[in-house]
Amino acid sequence: MNSTNSGSNGTKKSTSTGSDSSKQKGTSNDQKMQSSQLMQLFEDQLKDIYWAEKALTNAIPKMIKNATSEELVEALTSHLAETEEQVSRVEQMFELLGKKAVAVKCEAMTGLIKEAEKMMEECEEGAMCDAGIIFAGQKIEHYEIASYGTLRQFAETLGLTEVATLLETTLDEEKAADKKLTEVAVSAVNVEAAAE
Ligand SMILES: [Fe+2]
Repeated sequence: MNSTNSGSNGTKKSTSTGSDSSKQKGTSNDQKMQSSQLMQLFEDQLKDIYWAEKALTNAIPKMIKNATSEELVEALTSHLAETEEQVSRVEQMFELLGKKAVAVKCEAMTGLIKEAEKMMEECEEGAMCDAGIIFAGQKIEHYEIASYGTLRQFAETLGLTEVATLLETTLDEEKAADKKLTEVAVSAVNVEAAAE
């Protein structure tokens, strides 16, 4: 998708012979319109993830409070610090775009956080609760990985190189956080929960 988009943008312009200039102009206008529509979608989704990250700075402390395994508490605590940085990173992106940082409620993250809260309310304290927190935490990470992956791709298509680099940094952090949760699940939590 990436190579097709950026490739066609560049190639169509440079191969213009001038013989079909009206058609060429139409294509370029279409491309301009598409690009501004993509920019709008990109901005909307940035507002969405901005809201989601801010919501997570409130949700993760509750998960830490309910976690028992030291490893899980550690993983969540370090990801909370990362999440706070991720909030500022999104603000930096808005600044690079010359736009005001606006958060728009993310329904998906609202649902995922609700699910995490329900799990924590209903679980037995200890390993089972940890298992539930990991479940909810990984669903959240996967949502973020999907969002940041697409945002980074669109930033590249739109030629927003600096923004794409910032998105890549956060994407890598989310992937590492997800991996860490898998490790905790494998090494500590799941075995204990099964033994209870
Ligand atoms: Fe995040």
